[in-house]
Amino acid sequence: MATTIERILSKLAKQSELERSGKSQAASGEEMLAITYDTGKLFEILLIAMKAKRILEIGTSVGYSTLWFANALVYNNSMESINIKPIITVEMNPSKIKRASENFAEAGVENLIEVLEGNAKTVLHDILKDFKRTEGVQKTDGLFDFIFLDADKECLTEYFDMVLPILRIGGIIATDNMLYPEEYRGFMSEYANYIRSDNSVKTVTVAIGNGEELTTKLF
Ligand SMILES: C[S@@+](CC[C@H](N)C(=O)[O-])C[C@H]1O[C@@H](n2cnc3c(N)ncnc32)[C@H](O)[C@@H]1O
Repeated sequence: MATTIERILSKLAKQSELERSGKSQAASGEEMLAITYDTGKLFEILLIAMKAKRILEIGTSVGYSTLWFANALVYNNSMESINIKPIITVEMNPSKIKRASENFAEAGVENLIEVLEGNAKTVLHDILKDFKRTEGVQKTDGLFDFIFLDADKECLTEYFDMVLPILRIGGIIATDNMLYPEEYRGFMSEYANYIRSDNSVKTVTVAIGNGEELTTKLF
């Protein structure tokens, strides 16, 4: 039987499909722009396999991908082990934050997710500052197992440099839209070249959904 999270995921997947097929049209700036079902499933499997406890997401929209993360963490029973919310997700559009928060509450996982409102670069800067301040204390606990980059594509290399120090060794950075839509190709190939020149990571583009880059940190 489907869990409450799975029911909300399925409702949002239908809404996303209607938008993608053009059968329903969201107001400009209010589109879901969500990952595909297959991508969500892939992330869920990775998160369960790696026994993930902490996740950072850049680009919440209305929370579809975030709910896949929450589903995996509930399965992992990861939410009890630390006294901070295990998922941090960043979004700059207040009306999307409102919709995401409603979806999280409806799915019963609002206690697992901290939504940070603001421009990703500013918010990441604050997270890093916080991390450096408490580095001695939390050393490994403070690190993320999985970081999802799914906001503005022109800033990807900067986001990569900012998040790499707060990813644990063996953790994964996933990046959406490596293959589609085609209008992003320029930014995505610049990003792909950039991360391939970093010998502290191994990375591959997986042809699932809109194309996912999966990058793991070696040291
Ligand atoms: C592709 S959507 C995220 C979709 C979501 N991850 C999912 O799969 O359900 C990208 C989101 O990033 C937000 N965004 C874009 N640039 C941003 C920035 N610089 N800072 C914070 N949020 C940003 C947009 O408002 C949009 O909601």
